Amino acid sequence: MKSPALLWTCICRNISTTGPKLKEVPKGKDHSSHLWLKRQFADPYVQKAKKENYRCRSAFKLLEIDSKIKFLRPGLKVLDCGAAPGSWSQVAVKLVNSHGYDSKQPKGLVLSVDKLPIYPIDGAVVLSKCDFTQPDIQDRLVTILKDDKLDVVLSDMAPNATGMREMDHDLITQLAIAVIRFAVTYSKPGADCLIKIWDGRNRPQLEESITRFYSQVKILKPPSSRSHSAELFLLGRGFKGLKSSSSQKSVPTDVPPVDPS
Ligand SMILES: C[S@@+](CC[C@H](N)C(=O)[O-])C[C@H]1O[C@@H](n2cnc3c(N)ncnc32)[C@H](O)[C@@H]1O
Repeated sequence: MKSPALLWTCICRNISTTGPKLKEVPKGKDHSSHLWLKRQFADPYVQKAKKENYRCRSAFKLLEIDSKIKFLRPGLKVLDCGAAPGSWSQVAVKLVNSHGYDSKQPKGLVLSVDKLPIYPIDGAVVLSKCDFTQPDIQDRLVTILKDDKLDVVLSDMAPNATGMREMDHDLITQLAIAVIRFAVTYSKPGADCLIKIWDGRNRPQLEESITRFYSQVKILKPPSSRSHSAELFLLGRGFKGLKSSSSQKSVPTDVPPVDPS
């Protein structure tokens, strides 16, 4: 098995998404809930999140990514899509100083949106029970931004998994496309965009879409992302900006279906 450090360092174009085989076959919901609980208790990141007052272990994915690429700095304006329960926003609030605790540093902004309820987060503007993909919700985000634009767009959004790998991949792809569309329309030149996906057939097109608008694309798998999970993070660095109204037309609307053969 690859070490976390190795997993981290690879710009993983061919990450294996097949995990270790379970010795026992789950026998229904009770059994899988039991396995989930067992895994939670044994997970050092779950314990660490509790100790450091993060709402969930996902906080460490963003912290690990930021420790490598240092893209969250005081004063930046950040959108966090799929923010519930709120650990990424907690991390972003600290790093961009949106609560203004460090009076010597510029104060940033964190906008947190989720379909689910989000308990208030000190230093973040929270849009709770709001579907990011809906035009009226995106209008609200734009209104909050006033005439300003974003420095960083984050998406840890994930649909309810059906368990059917290809279908789940297609569903998360649609969320990723919605994020790219919004990011390229409302980001400052030079901005960054980090999007969670579950790996699959649409990844090349997503990478291509990001490459069109950002100077660099990276694929990241932080150590705290479980190695058997298909989860990956696409990072677009250095938004090139939209040069003219005609280039708006090239904002991605969909990833064309891929011939599985
Ligand atoms: C893995 S969780 C995010 C965890 C979060 N980053 C944290 O650190 O606390 C994925 C979230 O995406 C949200 N989500 C899925 N589809 C969404 C949508 N269309 N609009 C807003 N949120 C969505 C889910 O409700 C869920 O809360």
